[in-house]
Amino acid sequence: MTSTDIAVSVQNLTKSYGAFAALDGVTFDIERGETFALLGPNGAGKSTTIEILEGYRDRSGGEARVLGVDPQHGGLEWKARLGIVLQSSGESGNVTVREQLTQFAGFYPNARSVNDVIAAVGLEEKAGTRIKNLSGGQRRRVDVALGVIGRPELLFLDEPTTGFDPEARRQFWELIHELKREGTTILLTTHYLDEAAQLSDRAAVVAGGKLIDIGPVGSLGSAEARVPIVRWLENGVSREVRSHDPGATVADLVRRIGEPQNLEVVRPSLEDIYLGLVADSGPASHGESSARVAANTLTTEAAIAGTSSKENGLA
Ligand SMILES: Nc1ncnc2c1ncn2[C@@H]1O[C@H](COP(=O)(O)OP(=O)(O)OP(=O)(O)O)[C@@H](O)[C@H]1O
Ligand SMILES: [Mg+2]
Repeated sequence: MTSTDIAVSVQNLTKSYGAFAALDGVTFDIERGETFALLGPNGAGKSTTIEILEGYRDRSGGEARVLGVDPQHGGLEWKARLGIVLQSSGESGNVTVREQLTQFAGFYPNARSVNDVIAAVGLEEKAGTRIKNLSGGQRRRVDVALGVIGRPELLFLDEPTTGFDPEARRQFWELIHELKREGTTILLTTHYLDEAAQLSDRAAVVAGGKLIDIGPVGSLGSAEARVPIVRWLENGVSREVRSHDPGATVADLVRRIGEPQNLEVVRPSLEDIYLGLVADSGPASHGESSARVAANTLTTEAAIAGTSSKENGLA
C-alpha cells in the first residue's frame, strides 16, 4: 500500500494535560475510502484524538498525518478538504437553516447543493426556521449538514447521532452509505454499537488513552468472545451454552428434550464484545470478563447431558 492510499496515519500519539495522560501512545492508519470507528468509554480519548487530527488541538508527542499533512500545520486548502462535526457545536444562531448552510457552502470550492443536503438530513420543513428555535436533535442534524456541505474527502464525525430519534438515525445511516459510495473517508465515534457495526469497515477500541483492539468490526475481541450462544428454557430454567457448531448443538438438544422452549441462537453483538474488551482493559477488572467468559463456556456435552450445575451463567 502506498502512502497515497492512507488518509490518516497516527503513530504513538500522546496528549497530556499536566501529569494526566489523555492519550498514551495510540497508533492506527485509516485507508482512503474507509469508514473507521473509534469506540471507547467516556473519557477514553476519542474526542482528543479526533480534535488533534482536525487541527483543533496540538499533540504532546508522536506523529500524525491527515491527507498527507501534519494537522498542526494544515492551511486553509487542507481544511477545505475536511468535514467536521464536533461532539458539541456552538450552532445556535439567529440565522435560518438554509441561510447557515448557504453561507458555509460559499466557503468551499465544490460544495453540495444546499437543498440536497437539507433533504439528506430531513430538515426540509425546518429550512426556514432560525437555528435557535430548533430542537436539540434538529440542531444536531444541522451540525451534520454543515459537516458534509463542502463535499469533504475526509469526514470527522464525533458522536454525530447523539440526540437523534430512531428515524433520524436510520436516515443518517443512509447518508453515510451514500458518502461511502462516493468514496469519502470517514472517522466516526459513537456510543451506539449497532451504529458502528452498521457503518464501519474497521474499528478501534480505546480505553484510558490506549488502543486496546483494532480490526474489521466482525473480528474484534477474542475468538472465544465471538462464539455463538444457544439459549433455551428447560423445566422453567433458562439455559445457555456457547457452541462453535450451534446447528449440531440444537439437534442434540432436540434429541434429548424434544422441541426446546424459547430456543434462540445468538451471535455475540459488537456491544457484547466491546463490553468484554473494555472490562478486560480496566484497572479494576483483573481479567474478570475473560474469567466470566471462560466460566460460561460450558462444553456442549455437559450442557446437553444436563450434567452441569451451572444454569444460565451469563444472566
Ligand atoms: N482541556 C482539558 N484539560 C484537562 N483534561 C482534559 C481536557 N480535555 C480533555 N481532558 C481529559 O482527557 C480525557 C479524554 O477526554 P476525551 O474528551 O477525549 O474523551 P472521549 O473519549 O471523547 O469521551 P466521551 O465519550 O465522553 O466523549 C478525559 O479524562 C478528559 O477529562
Ligand atoms: Mg468525546
